[in-house]
Amino acid sequence: MTRDYRIATIPGDGIGREVVPAAASVLDRAGALFGFEIEWTEFDWSCAYYAEHGCMMPADGLDLLRDFDQIFLGAVGSPEVPDDVSLWGLLIPIRRAFQQYINLRPVTLLPGMTSPLRKDIAESIDFLVVRENNEGEYSEIGGRLYRGTPQEIAVQEAVFTRIGVERVMRYAFALAKSRRKNVASATKSNGIIHTMPFWDEVFRDISIEHPDVETSQHHIDALAAKFVLAPAQFDVVVASNLFGDILTDIGAAIIGSIGIGASGNINPEGDFPSMFESVHGSAPDIAGLGIANPLGQVWAGSMMLDHMGEATAAAAVKEAMSRTLLSDIRTPDLGGDATTADVTQSLITTLEEVA
Ligand code: NAI
Ligand code: MG
Repeated sequence: MTRDYRIATIPGDGIGREVVPAAASVLDRAGALFGFEIEWTEFDWSCAYYAEHGCMMPADGLDLLRDFDQIFLGAVGSPEVPDDVSLWGLLIPIRRAFQQYINLRPVTLLPGMTSPLRKDIAESIDFLVVRENNEGEYSEIGGRLYRGTPQEIAVQEAVFTRIGVERVMRYAFALAKSRRKNVASATKSNGIIHTMPFWDEVFRDISIEHPDVETSQHHIDALAAKFVLAPAQFDVVVASNLFGDILTDIGAAIIGSIGIGASGNINPEGDFPSMFESVHGSAPDIAGLGIANPLGQVWAGSMMLDHMGEATAAAAVKEAMSRTLLSDIRTPDLGGDATTADVTQSLITTLEEVA
């Protein structure tokens, strides 16, 4: 019997419209080879949609998405629409309404990729950053007084709740158990003396529940340096919203290119769909040229398969990515001269060999 999945796609703008169909064709092939079928439903919500309708998605947009198994997102953004409109009009409402409180980012140096780090340091980069995605430093609480005067004040509150911190840490520990059983926590309890000691206490409480998992905690500044100096020591790294945001960009940098990074905005309970996306934006500078690297979107697709329980197919897709990179079929951002279509075709052909 084939397993069926209903996926909502939001290709968005620019190269999102090129890499989403490319990745979908790879996942369809994976489905044919591994016994599942994906029914895709496309939503054209984007900056182009905004230009026509004055909003990024219709008023009932969230209701339209709610009953899908997952959401597959390309990128939104255009030079004509301010970035805060495209972000707060689409991505943030989806992340918050669907309780996607985990942002999961794999940091793996794929075979065939070159890291800007020295080879011996970069060799075994393979970890996951688990970033809190709903609260923390990115809150709307605060305000400004006495604007434009010497007495001007700006206050921004960070919000850490026990429920919020416990659930992101439980997720990190569960993930570590399926891997090398090691969780590192990003803190700054020497400088941020209320929320970060609280974060550390919860980390201690949750680690007591998992005696088989090795733990360590690092001040965020030192941790940032370790990502560059000794990244191989990490397995799962758990961090607050802001710290995770910074760490994931370092993570993306050390694995070689913005065009291959992927992330999952995950609702672990499955009460709502999760959303998988490439980390890159709409790349207006190369949109329409047919040379966008589809690997980030394909990796996001592999994460989505994994999340739906299709671990074998997910691993096969990643293997096809590595083999394609090793065979030197790569887009210009990785120093090659292949097109999006060339890479996609290679992934599909390679998948057939792997399966
Ligand atoms: P960007 O990621 O779109 O592009 C940065 C540079 O990387 C460009 O030179 C681009 O050509 C290159 N690049 C990115 N992805 C690539 C790929 N798959 N293959 C080959 N080259 C690739 O970031 P930028 O220019 O800062 O943002 C452009 C627009 O995208 C903005 O409107 C921004 O707000 C939006 N954006 C949206 C995101 C999302 O939807 N999650 C994330 C980041 C940016
Ligand atoms: Mg993207």
